[in-house]
Amino acid sequence: MPKRYRDIAGDGGSNIAGQVSEQHARMRARLAEVRAVVAVVSGKGGVGKSSLTANLAACWALEGRRVGVLDADLNGPTMATMLGVRGRRLVLGAEGVAPPEGALGVRVMSMDLLLPSDDAPLVWEAPTQAESHTWRGAMEANALREFLTDTAWGALDVLLLDLPPGTDRLITVASLLPVLSGTIVVTIPSDVAHLVVRKSITIAAQANAPVLGLVENMTGLFPGPSGADLARDAGIPFLGSVPFDPALTASTDLGEPLVAAAPGCEASRALFAIAATVGAALTSGGAPARRARPA
Ligand SMILES: Nc1ncnc2c1ncn2[C@@H]1O[C@H](COP(=O)(O)OP(=O)(O)O)[C@@H](O)[C@H]1O
Ligand SMILES: [Mg+2]
Repeated sequence: MPKRYRDIAGDGGSNIAGQVSEQHARMRARLAEVRAVVAVVSGKGGVGKSSLTANLAACWALEGRRVGVLDADLNGPTMATMLGVRGRRLVLGAEGVAPPEGALGVRVMSMDLLLPSDDAPLVWEAPTQAESHTWRGAMEANALREFLTDTAWGALDVLLLDLPPGTDRLITVASLLPVLSGTIVVTIPSDVAHLVVRKSITIAAQANAPVLGLVENMTGLFPGPSGADLARDAGIPFLGSVPFDPALTASTDLGEPLVAAAPGCEASRALFAIAATVGAALTSGGAPARRARPA
């Protein structure tokens, strides 16, 4: 096991540079079995990134694809709940930590599976909590790197990353990954959301991975600006609109994504169509895996 930096006093013969390159090699080896890595992003919170991630994962699992989901939202993790693996124990095997599989076979890794209780927040170890914010960015990046590297994902057709809100988060994640196949940007029909989502699209376009497109979620909830117009103005594909449907909340809260619980409803049909468009882009090579940074 490589040391963590808190174990290292001085360099003490630890060969930090060697450990870092070993970790990069392990991540590359781990992700070599993953055919596509897709990040779901939005600068805005509460727009449905996690709901979309869970439902896309379910759509592809129902088609027989091998799907993994990494909950990259360390402070507000929801993937374990939405995919029905909350409270499952993590099992450490020779290959790493086995990600629990939900009913549909989606493999999930989330900070939620590591925190000791329902109301325990994620608190970083630092001499004082006041100091912890100085290290938070680095520690979060490190935790995500460990999640990616130490999880025994196995062979996957697609690994979905559910990102936290914040326009800059994608930069951190993209810089960790040897490859990123594409990003999906989520908005809701509101001016405030569009304001922030525009910035996310700019960042996604710079991430050295194709922007697979924009999804408008909660369509019909309020009479806001059109997601299709936003996508056209930004020059990215518009993937579709998912109507506001309280059944979507109810089903994901119960750990069964709507597309599995009620495949025939309008919102599910919209989600299946989005999954088909993105899935086709990924398999046709329309969105080739690209290096997010030099090897
Ligand atoms: N299309 C929708 N219809 C109804 N409720 C939705 C829809 N999309 C998301 N929600 C609900 O909105 C809330 C926020 O969604 P979530 O996926 O957690 O957003 P984010 O990950 O962007 O913060 C959740 O309670 C979710 O169930
Ligand atoms: Mg979320």
